[in-house]
Amino acid sequence: MALPPKAIQGTVPLTFVAPHQTAPYATDTPAHDAYGRRIDYLRVSLTDRCNLRCVYCVPTPDLPHAPHAALLTNDELLLVVRAAAAAGFRKLRLTGGEPTLRHELVELIRALKAIPGIEQIAMTTNALRLPKLAGPLKAAGLDRVNISIDSLDPVKFRQISRGGSLAEVWAGVHAAAAAGLHPLKLNAVIVRGMNDAEVLQLAALTLEHPWEFRFIEVMPLRGVAGLAEEGVVSSAELLARLAAHFGTLEPCEQKRADPARCYRLPGAQGKLGFISAVTDPFCATCNRMRLTADGRLHLCLLRDHEVDLRAAIRNGASHAEVEQLIRHAVHLKPWGHGLPEGVRPQLRGMAELGG
Ligand code: 5AD
Ligand code: SF4
Repeated sequence: MALPPKAIQGTVPLTFVAPHQTAPYATDTPAHDAYGRRIDYLRVSLTDRCNLRCVYCVPTPDLPHAPHAALLTNDELLLVVRAAAAAGFRKLRLTGGEPTLRHELVELIRALKAIPGIEQIAMTTNALRLPKLAGPLKAAGLDRVNISIDSLDPVKFRQISRGGSLAEVWAGVHAAAAAGLHPLKLNAVIVRGMNDAEVLQLAALTLEHPWEFRFIEVMPLRGVAGLAEEGVVSSAELLARLAAHFGTLEPCEQKRADPARCYRLPGAQGKLGFISAVTDPFCATCNRMRLTADGRLHLCLLRDHEVDLRAAIRNGASHAEVEQLIRHAVHLKPWGHGLPEGVRPQLRGMAELGG
């Protein structure tokens, strides 16, 4: 549907607010939000813990974690995903923190993949545990992975991740490729003065490898707003720098709900993606919601609206009641972020939301 440019900047024109709806929602159609967007992609944070501490993600190295009892159990998580599938969700992405730190991950993926309606399961990971896990995860039904790799210089990588080993990440990348977790995507959050000098080398990885390398504008999540305000490098600037070095980039076919705008370097095997959440938001085609490890549906990455599923489940809500709650959450999904108006999310950091 066509939306006015003002809306794309994150404000909600009154004419676009649908009449208020409450349960019961019809269960014979996939859930659409109040703006007509079909929401069918759930990003599931499995833990708020991580074995790295990337500076643009974790503001202070010793951030407290949610106690174990606060996290959804596997049974609770499966109940939520069954209800979400009934509401029309089709794709899952497992995130964190670092999702591979979740206990019994292989069994969990096998059970998630068996849920009718779930067509695809992807994961965003730092790859450190993939040398051990890539094969079993693929066998359990994981389709593909996105791997964070913000620098090709081991010293810089160690600084950015506060102690991580680039060699271990590379071992994880190769394990993912060998296990057939295709198409393999690599992510770098670009921060001016931190790693923006490396974009040519990062992009050049796609000359030799059939990977998609994605440049992500740093976003002002809780605790990193200062870094993000000062450090954001627009995708437009990156594209210009890459074109000046490699020659004109060829646009590739754009998948509708993919936030990354896709290009190819001349002669490259792989592709480049540019995720411009800050300078060129893609809210109009947003198809996603997030589930936090402590069982809240988080309705927009850059806003604080949440719906508490854990409380409902622990009060004995049935599958049908959880489905209604999910449909209601979809209905309440905000139009888009409010960064241009100065709205900054306060509630959660990225390590709880997983990108
Ligand atoms: N801005 C943008 N992306 C971020 N990520 C983490 N923090 C930020 C941020 N402030 C991304 C990482 C990783 C995923 C977990 O979230 O690149 O791929
Ligand atoms: Fe961990 Fe990923 Fe956040 Fe880095 S970006 S601290 S690897 S969750």
